[in-house]
Amino acid sequence: MGNMLVTGGAGFIGANFVRMALERTDHRVTVLDKLTYAGNRANLDSVDAEFVEGDVADTALVDALVGEADTVVHFAAESHNDNSLRDPSAFVHTNVVGTYTLLEAIRNHSRTRPIHFHHISTDEVYGDLPLYGDERFDEHTAYNPSSPYSATKAGSDHLVRAWVRSFGISATISNCSNNYGPYQHVEKFIPRQITNLIDGEPAKLYGTGEQVRDWIHVDDHNAAVLAILERGRPGETYAIGADTERTTNKQVIELLCEIVGGSFEHVADRPGHDQRYQMDAAKLRRELGWEPRYTDLRAGLEQTVEWYRANEWWWRPGKADVEKRYALSGQ
Ligand code: NAD
Ligand code: TYD
Repeated sequence: MGNMLVTGGAGFIGANFVRMALERTDHRVTVLDKLTYAGNRANLDSVDAEFVEGDVADTALVDALVGEADTVVHFAAESHNDNSLRDPSAFVHTNVVGTYTLLEAIRNHSRTRPIHFHHISTDEVYGDLPLYGDERFDEHTAYNPSSPYSATKAGSDHLVRAWVRSFGISATISNCSNNYGPYQHVEKFIPRQITNLIDGEPAKLYGTGEQVRDWIHVDDHNAAVLAILERGRPGETYAIGADTERTTNKQVIELLCEIVGGSFEHVADRPGHDQRYQMDAAKLRRELGWEPRYTDLRAGLEQTVEWYRANEWWWRPGKADVEKRYALSGQ
């Protein structure tokens, strides 16, 4: 049984990961999370993990926690594109300086014992694809990030590779497509629409809504991360995507309007809006035998809608503020 440090474990993907890791592995888990607006202690209710409130850019704290871990899984980040357009500073702090701080602690402790670092990243580091082509991103695609969010994630990926090559630390990276599922903050596309529709408000579609995202259920993402931790090759990068049918934002909103009931309206587009993301996860499937379980987007969305209906206590407190912020930018 080893000790796993999970940063950002009180956020959407991290909290789902902690639950899955405790169910499927023998690891003891410690969560380090700053509890920003996106972190919620309730995401870890009745979860048997130690919780430390703190910043991934706090050198002394991070060095002490890494000193007790065999494996570090790094989810902590500022994660929302729209927020990065309003104020990028926290993105540079957490995504770049925070990752650097962790890498230095890993380098320090790796001198005396083995320790493995897994860095969670995004397909947005590759920029975007033309709407109507068949190209997909994979591990060899050149980086070309568009927004402050994706640029800081790209920077953090480069730091990890540099620490592997220059200092010989043991690390892996995964770049995953857009996630959906329980515990996702209501500022994000799918939960925002579900909760608007539950409230009898129209869903909000940016611009024409012809953009395409490569939706993956959060449990499929986290199962891939566990497969990489168990069987991945140190130093390697793995692309994660579920290969669901190509679905535009407008089609996702139409599906949600059918499932929950209600209508949608067009609102102001996002500046610099990335057109299409699509991941090719062939390496992950071939080398690690990973397969997604949620291949039917409609079924995955129905399950997610059920969760938001049953857990209004969880999302209601932040909802009005999120909508007030969007209203300021005409969205
Ligand atoms: P989230 O915003 O829901 O959660 C982020 C968590 O990190 C929160 O609990 C927050 O409190 C914590 N955090 C933020 N700054 C911190 C700091 N300085 N120190 C410690 N903790 C801090 O994000 P998410 O959607 O769960 O994303 C998790 C990771 O997955 C991110 O690295 C993101 O880039 C990556 N990712 C997300 C998606 C997606 O669709 N959401 C897709 C691919 C990759
Ligand atoms: P989002 O969940 O912010 O993820 P990302 O920017 O990382 O892809 O948005 C997903 C897509 O949905 C993106 O093309 C922007 C669009 N969108 C809307 O149309 N309406 C909304 O209210 C939001 C939040 C996003």
